[in-house]
Amino acid sequence: MYSFNRRCISFLLLVPAVWRADAADFDPLQYVDQLIGSRAGGNVFPGATLPYGMAKAVADTNSGSNQGGFTLDGTPILGFSALHDSGTGGEPSLGNFPLFPYAACPGDDINLCVYPKKTRVAFGAFDSKSVVARPGFFSVTLNTGVKAEMTAAQRTALFRFTFPTATNGAHPLLLQDLSDLHDSRQDNGSVSVDPTTGRIKGQGVFVSSFSQGQYTSYFCTDFSGSKIFDNGIFANSRASANVKNLTVSRSINGYPLPGGAFVRFESPEKPVTARVGLSFISSDQACSNAEEEIPDFDFDAVQSAATTAWREKLSPITVSTGGGVDPDQIKNFYSGIYRTMVNPQNYTGENPNWETGEPYFDSFYCLWDSFRSQIPFLTVLDPSSVEQMIRSLIETYKHEGWLPDCHMSFSKGYTQVVNLLAVFDGYLKGLAGGIDWDVGYEAVVKDAEVEPFDWCCHGRGGIDSWKSLGYIPVQDFDYKGFGTLTRSLSRTLEYSYNDFTIAQMAKAMNKTTDAEKYLDSSNNWKNLYKENQTSSLFSGANTGFVGFFQPKYLNGTWGSQNPLKCSNIDNTGSVCSLQNTGAETFESSIWEYGFYVPHDQGSLVTLYGGPSNFVKRLDYLHDQNITYIGNEPAFLTVFQYHYAGRPGLSAKRSHFYIPRFFDTTPEGLPGNDDSGAMGSFVAFSMMGLFPNPGQDVYLITPPFFESVNITSPVTGKTATIRAINFDPTYAAIYIQSATLDGKPYTKNWIDHSFFTEGKELVLTLGKNESSWGTAVKDLPPSVGEYVGFNGTAVSRRIVPPNLRYPLEFRRPGLGFGQV
Ligand SMILES: *[C@@H]1O[C@H](CO)[C@@H](O)[C@H](O)[C@H]1NC(C)=O
Ligand SMILES: *[C@@H]1O[C@H](CO)[C@@H](O)[C@H](O)[C@H]1NC(C)=O
Ligand SMILES: *[C@@H]1O[C@H](CO)[C@@H](O)[C@H](O)[C@H]1NC(C)=O
Ligand SMILES: *[C@@H]1O[C@H](CO)[C@@H](O)[C@H](O)[C@H]1NC(C)=O
Ligand SMILES: *[C@@H]1O[C@H](CO)[C@@H](O)[C@H](O)[C@H]1NC(C)=O
Ligand SMILES: *[C@@H]1O[C@H](CO)[C@@H](O)[C@H](O)[C@H]1NC(C)=O
Ligand SMILES: *[C@@H]1O[C@H](CO)[C@@H](O)[C@H](O)[C@H]1NC(C)=O
Ligand SMILES: *[C@@H]1O[C@H](CO)[C@@H](O)[C@H](O)[C@H]1NC(C)=O
Ligand SMILES: *[C@@H]1O[C@H](CO)[C@@H](O)[C@H](O)[C@H]1NC(C)=O
Ligand SMILES: *[C@@H]1O[C@H](CO)[C@@H](O)[C@H](O)[C@H]1NC(C)=O
Repeated sequence: MYSFNRRCISFLLLVPAVWRADAADFDPLQYVDQLIGSRAGGNVFPGATLPYGMAKAVADTNSGSNQGGFTLDGTPILGFSALHDSGTGGEPSLGNFPLFPYAACPGDDINLCVYPKKTRVAFGAFDSKSVVARPGFFSVTLNTGVKAEMTAAQRTALFRFTFPTATNGAHPLLLQDLSDLHDSRQDNGSVSVDPTTGRIKGQGVFVSSFSQGQYTSYFCTDFSGSKIFDNGIFANSRASANVKNLTVSRSINGYPLPGGAFVRFESPEKPVTARVGLSFISSDQACSNAEEEIPDFDFDAVQSAATTAWREKLSPITVSTGGGVDPDQIKNFYSGIYRTMVNPQNYTGENPNWETGEPYFDSFYCLWDSFRSQIPFLTVLDPSSVEQMIRSLIETYKHEGWLPDCHMSFSKGYTQVVNLLAVFDGYLKGLAGGIDWDVGYEAVVKDAEVEPFDWCCHGRGGIDSWKSLGYIPVQDFDYKGFGTLTRSLSRTLEYSYNDFTIAQMAKAMNKTTDAEKYLDSSNNWKNLYKENQTSSLFSGANTGFVGFFQPKYLNGTWGSQNPLKCSNIDNTGSVCSLQNTGAETFESSIWEYGFYVPHDQGSLVTLYGGPSNFVKRLDYLHDQNITYIGNEPAFLTVFQYHYAGRPGLSAKRSHFYIPRFFDTTPEGLPGNDDSGAMGSFVAFSMMGLFPNPGQDVYLITPPFFESVNITSPVTGKTATIRAINFDPTYAAIYIQSATLDGKPYTKNWIDHSFFTEGKELVLTLGKNESSWGTAVKDLPPSVGEYVGFNGTAVSRRIVPPNLRYPLEFRRPGLGFGQV
């Protein structure tokens, strides 16, 4: 009924006042479900936090998949802690200093309460129906009857424990221990409790989860509500109210010794509010953070401030709820957006390694995942935060000498590959906000030019070979720097693209010589293309496709890697990550990396035998499950049909994956959310514009909604995407024609000015593919030419506004035959 009204009004162009009231009523937060991805490996953080907040409060479960703290997989609760990452794989991060509540100790004897994490988990069972998760809020009731609610400020979490009154007369107990999720505490964690106020302070040294580093974290916990009855410390399974300080050694048999403090309260009648201040500088700073942020323990006020902060972040984007669209799709969309702002985390003022007044963000986990769509999404929706992240990365470069790929808990993590600021495309999209782009440029050039002694965690390896041979050889001879000598093929492809993005940045900065140089080396991917390489399935059947990338030795002889090795259908036990025995492709196959030439799809289409063969190959990649949408290299392949002049097939493919692989259930993610990377894939796909990251290009598909409005936080202008003939069953997902600001628009892509200048894109949809967006002139930019398209006997190269490469910039053919 409401939607019917909306539609009539939009056609009749009636009173705008109605619209304003309507837009004001729209609350995106009602569509956020934080529990999506809390089961089956999504590893999301579903608890209470502010956007990019450092304090992240949630219940931690005893799950093998508790990287984000809480899971809905039936495992019981270990404690309630306030530092977390979201969606990561590998070892769980953070989860330091959990609290645990007891309504009473048996016989009121503190020694009969259970302290160690491993055993107290027996008291951590809960009914999943009791779980409530909303932006800025999380709550669960333990089967013991204790209800735990939590909310968060920037660096302080607030927990409210309500005890069953049946325990009248007993003294409820809260313990706080020195553990973390990963059980990584090193020597001499310490805790103290103030006998009068019950204030607990402490610190511990822990291991960062995907790096070689360690970090020290600190806390300061104060209580409000019921009066303090007594307090003390515990070590292992025993406690005493006579001892107020504890310093504890690392471990016995590899498991950190349980140790912490406890506080008991006069009566269970009043809830107890525990305010946990956090810091990476000192426990005094943890106390002052808490005192500043939550001076009066007002749970409702903190929760309401968090809700407001989230509403502000999500409100620049509104979608039509009309047209018969399934509300679940709206939930999918906003929940995805929500997750893009949980990580990275704003640790400004908490960096123990330098304090320069610049913003400091951490939990880039990893940029290899997030550069593809998460950072580009935030560049649209929250550019000022991306500006702060870039400033933080540049400051990290200044202090650590290199840009990181992964960075968490103040340590640089293991480099997967892509690690360039330039792929952030923020320069091209006009991000400024105090970013020193000259230093940014210096950093990306250093990455390309200077080989670090240890390139485990920053920079590139094999730079001599790269320069002399034009590829990274398998089993490289490299005596200048050291790292895992694997991934030679994926590194070649990724370094090529990285060089392209440097060229683009150089060009925009008028550094013409550099632009030529890096554009030249951005062609290096061609050196690993073996035109007669075939590919057979593991069953032995030939896929019928010829021409694949292959590894190459130093002496120029081809190496060999099955193009399906490390694909989603490889069940042969291949080693595909950062192990010494890893493959020549990282976390992915040659089949999939075979499309990773984001800057030169024209040449790639030609190599693969022209557009229709390119489409066949892309279809085969998806239909045979060679790629898996649960890992980030798959993202762009969903939309690469655009480059073959078949934008309709990109739309079809995105509907193949959403909601089939992305839905609103707790198991609704196909893999780790990876700090919100999956969330951003959903958000951009459903919005109908998908970025080719590193370029000022968004590929156009119909949105999953009748209309989408995005207000640029920079200019205040509102961009609109509107579908005519919107079909909520998604049978009509093919663009028949389009207008941009009222004028016919045939290009199948659009640039960032769409958002900043608040343009209007109107798409007329139909049930069949059309000729819209299929002509060579409609295709997105490419370094090499598009040939073999209908009506293009003589090929032409697209020269987009931001890529005005004079012809002489292009190196003539590198000696491979055209197919
Ligand atoms: C931990 O404390 C003990 C006792 O004071 C001391 O001997 C040891 O060196 C300390 N360990 C570390 C890593 O600081
Ligand atoms: C216990 O810790 C507090 C706070 O850290 C400190 O002020 C006090 O001196 C310590 N007491 C002992 C006996 O170490
Ligand atoms: C988008 O903005 C236009 C113009 O202000 C308005 O008419 C329309 O209702 C908005 N649509 C949505 C989905 O918010
Ligand atoms: C990060 O934290 C600093 C210090 O509290 C604050 O000034 C800044 O606005 C925050 N940035 C974001 C994006 O939240
Ligand atoms: C590059 O040169 C053009 C033309 O001279 C000028 O308009 C532009 O501002 C320059 N850009 C930079 C970053 O210096
Ligand atoms: C494939 O091409 C290479 C040259 O690139 C050649 O040496 C090799 O013999 C060819 N292999 C087959 C099976 O044709
Ligand atoms: C090149 O090196 C590889 C690996 O060491 C070796 O197998 C191959 O025989 C060499 N080719 C030539 C032509 O020397
Ligand atoms: C691909 O995987 C899906 C399950 O996700 C399955 O239904 C389908 O049969 C698989 N296709 C092939 C060709 O194996
Ligand atoms: C759409 O395609 C189907 C077959 O795929 C065809 O039967 C139908 O006539 C087409 N509709 C239009 C309007 O071209
Ligand atoms: C070119 O036209 C032919 C015949 O009309 C058609 O089969 C083919 O799919 C078209 N190719 C492209 C890339 O549009």
